[in-house]
Amino acid sequence: MDTVISFVKGNPISAFFYALGSFTFLKFAIKTLVVFGETFVLPGTNLRKFGAGKGSWAVITGASDGIGREYSIQLAKKGFNVLAVARNGTALKSVTDEIASGTKGKVQSKTVVLDVSKSDHHGWEQLKEVFHEIQVSVLVNNVGKSHAHPVYFAESEPSEISDIIAINVDATVRITRMVLPGMIKRKNGLILNMGSFSGIVPSPMLATYSGTKAFIDTFSTALAEEVKKHGITVQCINPYFVVSKMSKIRKPSIMIPTAAAFVRASLNKVGLSGGARFVGRPAGSAPYWSHSLLEYFVGVLGWKQATVVYTHELHKSIRKRVDRKLAREAKTQ
Ligand SMILES: NC(=O)c1ccc[n+]([C@@H]2O[C@H](COP(=O)([O-])OP(=O)(O)OC[C@H]3O[C@@H](n4cnc5c(N)ncnc54)[C@H](OP(=O)(O)O)[C@@H]3O)[C@@H](O)[C@H]2O)c1
Repeated sequence: MDTVISFVKGNPISAFFYALGSFTFLKFAIKTLVVFGETFVLPGTNLRKFGAGKGSWAVITGASDGIGREYSIQLAKKGFNVLAVARNGTALKSVTDEIASGTKGKVQSKTVVLDVSKSDHHGWEQLKEVFHEIQVSVLVNNVGKSHAHPVYFAESEPSEISDIIAINVDATVRITRMVLPGMIKRKNGLILNMGSFSGIVPSPMLATYSGTKAFIDTFSTALAEEVKKHGITVQCINPYFVVSKMSKIRKPSIMIPTAAAFVRASLNKVGLSGGARFVGRPAGSAPYWSHSLLEYFVGVLGWKQATVVYTHELHKSIRKRVDRKLAREAKTQ
């Protein structure tokens, strides 16, 4: 230490670089400490703040399966009445049945059958009517669609492109606009918008999906700043992969939780950002621990460009496997 001090004292340029290095290291150490604290130690905001157990309603889109189904069931267990929205009425009924049996009838639940890709679907009117009857304090804009397979944008089906935009962007904006004035009036609310890792790191061969998730991220951050003065929390939840029909992944692993584990982490970390803390998007949140660390390393260490190239290579190889499978199926027909 004495040698370092005497070296630095005699040389102003070395002193400058020594100070810069120390500052950079300190900044990195503090950021790492905060991210690890939020990921592994600190609890999120207690959901009672948003009316859990007090007759408030949670609205979940894409509630009949996967992550949305889990939000519906777990929010009901936390004491929220649940309004579940999706296309499949039978699957929605199984969600409300599970809520009724899981909560022993302590909370209410309703369903609205709505295809959010169709702007004139009759379900929109029904949703508006239900919103007049209930007090919504939690909105989970979970519904989402991705490309069936990795595909170059120039070869994407126009109908797939417009569906992805309608479901991921238009529905989120439209439902948020319907619910937000009530939250502002009551000075309380929680909005969780389902983003994706592909909204943070551009995802070649899923360009439209990736772009819509980047929209969700930016929209959430702008809205969060607008409404925080009204006591409303808005977050963009960034999963990497989660076991579900959409991901086509059936086996959980360290990096790929089940929908139940992912949602449990999300509801335990409301208001925290984890690995999304220091990347210039204050509303971003990576609630699941391994996703949090991944987002931190990519964001803070600045590996984005390399990740874009890696993702492109990954999607090229997935596409090759899909093409081989389709060719095999075509032969057997
Ligand atoms: N799983 C992952 O690895 C992953 C990763 C990053 C982000 N995400 C995001 O997480 C969210 C949920 O994904 P997931 O994996 O749980 O998907 P999922 O298992 O495929 O479930 C999608 C849900 O959305 C509903 N839905 C689909 N199209 C609809 C439409 N046009 N109108 C109304 N509802 C519709 C589906 O029900 P119906 O068929 O009954 O309509 C279902 O309830 C999405 O926003 C997705 O982008 C997922």
